[in-house]
Amino acid sequence: MLKVLVAGACSCVVSLTCFVPCPLLAQSAVRAQADRQQWYLNAGKMTYVVGVNEQGILQTLYWGPLLRDGAVVPVARSLPERASQYPPAATTPQEYPAYGAGIFPETALKVNSLNGDRTLVLHYESARVDGAKLEIVLKDTAQPLRVHLYYQAYAEGVLARWSRIENIGKGSFGIENAASATWNLPAGTGYSHRWLTGMWGGEFQLNEEPLKTGKSVQESRTGHTSHEANPWFSIGKQGETTEETGPVWFGELGWSGNWQIVTEYTSLEQPRVTGGYNPFDFHWTLAAGASLETPKFYAGYTDGGEGQASRILSQFQLQEILPKRGEAREAKPRPIIYNSWEATEMNFTADTQIALAERAAKAGVERFVIDDGWFGKRDDDHAGLGDWTVTPKKFPQGLKPIINRVHALGMDFGIWVEPEMVNPDSDLYRQHPDWAMNFPDRQRTEMRNQLMLNLARTDVKEWMFTWLDKLVSENDIAFLKWDYNRIWSEPGWNTAPGSSPEHPNPDAEKAIYLQSIRNLYEVIDRLRAKHPKLEIESCSSGGGRVDLGILERTDEVWPSDNTDALDRQDIQWGYTQAYTPQTMVAWVTDVPSMDHRMVPLQYRFVVAMQGALGIGANLTKFSDADMALSAKLTEFYKTVRTTVQQGKLYRLASPLAGDTSQMEYVADDGSQAVLLAYVHSQRFALPYAAVHLRGLDPDAMYHVHALDPDKYAGEATVSGSVLMGAGVNLKLRGDYDSTAVALERVR
Ligand code: GLA
Repeated sequence: MLKVLVAGACSCVVSLTCFVPCPLLAQSAVRAQADRQQWYLNAGKMTYVVGVNEQGILQTLYWGPLLRDGAVVPVARSLPERASQYPPAATTPQEYPAYGAGIFPETALKVNSLNGDRTLVLHYESARVDGAKLEIVLKDTAQPLRVHLYYQAYAEGVLARWSRIENIGKGSFGIENAASATWNLPAGTGYSHRWLTGMWGGEFQLNEEPLKTGKSVQESRTGHTSHEANPWFSIGKQGETTEETGPVWFGELGWSGNWQIVTEYTSLEQPRVTGGYNPFDFHWTLAAGASLETPKFYAGYTDGGEGQASRILSQFQLQEILPKRGEAREAKPRPIIYNSWEATEMNFTADTQIALAERAAKAGVERFVIDDGWFGKRDDDHAGLGDWTVTPKKFPQGLKPIINRVHALGMDFGIWVEPEMVNPDSDLYRQHPDWAMNFPDRQRTEMRNQLMLNLARTDVKEWMFTWLDKLVSENDIAFLKWDYNRIWSEPGWNTAPGSSPEHPNPDAEKAIYLQSIRNLYEVIDRLRAKHPKLEIESCSSGGGRVDLGILERTDEVWPSDNTDALDRQDIQWGYTQAYTPQTMVAWVTDVPSMDHRMVPLQYRFVVAMQGALGIGANLTKFSDADMALSAKLTEFYKTVRTTVQQGKLYRLASPLAGDTSQMEYVADDGSQAVLLAYVHSQRFALPYAAVHLRGLDPDAMYHVHALDPDKYAGEATVSGSVLMGAGVNLKLRGDYDSTAVALERVR
């Protein structure tokens, strides 16, 4: 439950003339300090303060540890002109800098007016406090344009910011760039910057560098969130910030289309982060009376190091973002999935799937998922996408018999879809070639033999909702794996509002970027509303679509097509910086892996146990011993998964740094802790170093439940102080050894 301590009494419209102060508040709340033209936003253990300066400009005044109720920071003052190269607009830390008045660092807004004016100067107009929400309205000094800045504080320690640009005039405006927010950090030196990059098969790679003068740009131009970069940032202090200590300013975006985050450090030592829609190839025509809203940009601050920043984001996502937000702790954690993709690819019959399902049930699986290849003429990736009817060749009686069999085996049933794509060799494309994105007369670029449907079109959106709704209504489907396997090319839309085949308008057609994502969100929202029990996984050739926009409407993600256990450790180390382990699906698959690596079955399992465990191996080829080991490991996982998926993660030792690594999870109520430990290459016959646990109660006693009693060297019941101080001794040796230890708090 969000702890908002505010009632209607605090809902007040504040303007320059009427100023109604609110009572002092905590946890997640906004306090208006009327006499100082300031607003104090408390989110968990963080406070963020904005204020209006003597010129009417809204400034960032503070972003750091929680301020005590009643504490005030200095009133806003614009910085003086330092030299003729530095007007106050450029050096004053503006909350939402619009291009104008000589500003040259990154701006959040750039608008063209019909009279040729390409600048804005936004002045404070009014503010409204409503519980933990704040709206501040700015207005341009010359043009009929308002900007509404929205703030929402969350008790978990996160502040959401976004904007709405409103045309209050009679003509239109052309928006060239509209970010969600600019976050100004305290001016100073010694910052370090972390961000996530990647590639297909190698997503979520963690980067770290000192923050240097200039700009670091992370972005997507692919039309979706992208494998190349993920919309998350983290800034710490060199020599101070570690996994468990020191200040961290962090944030992430909720948008699944082209996005950009610019992390900038000015010559005047001002760190600032601006993010939202990507200005690349961007245009939005803002008609009279219309508004453009930007995506949410979430951010937080902690002095508890990178680990605490991740724990804040994880709890925030569980409580406020994921579809079952808030219920997450009471709800069933993610089920153990079996997915048949790696075992059969598209080459299967109903019988081969049933044979896999029977083995999966024996291995402790709870959800059986048929991947690509069940529809149309889909025997390989050359044909069928778009023709979403069950292929009689593989399922002569439709899906019902196999779904019934899966249910009889005690599992629920899921199926793969890729709704936004079409193969040119499909009935859909033959009927509606105009539905694929394209520019007239230009060759459509195929990737994986497929084209992108133009989901910005209303007819495509309605078609998509209709067949998905029919599929889920006619069959007992608990789960969709929603895939998206190529990037954009030829992003044309000559039937966009304001464009036509006869009178094409390239600027109007750029609305495709926003409208297709809005329509994607609408289709999923409608589907979920009509089928409240339906769950969805976001997949995009692995982790190409992971962000807080898609996570508001999907329950889990497929972080990578790379299931090599060693590579997965690196990917998972990066993934958990920004996203909760509950959403991180990980399958145990066959060896050799895509790296041609041979890794023992237990190591593959214990790596997959770091998130939502699944199996993708061909179980029909498993020996009896492998089946028995799989059943033992899924049984153990079921005893710890709530802690793994919904508890507090302590990343003890990085797989990126050495031959050994460990993850630890502590249940929110402290009743259980789980240690997952690995060695990938033992050296010089050295014993495994003691593992010092974190986050336990030093005065409590814990009963040890070791997955492998022969690999645990210690007492059956141990005090928290010993587990953290002296550590846990494990007998891991050789190559790719691993184990797990559960600790149950007894008193
Ligand atoms: C993508 C996904 C895989 C699988 C295939 C099916 O590559 O990431 O997991 O679903 O598509 O074509």
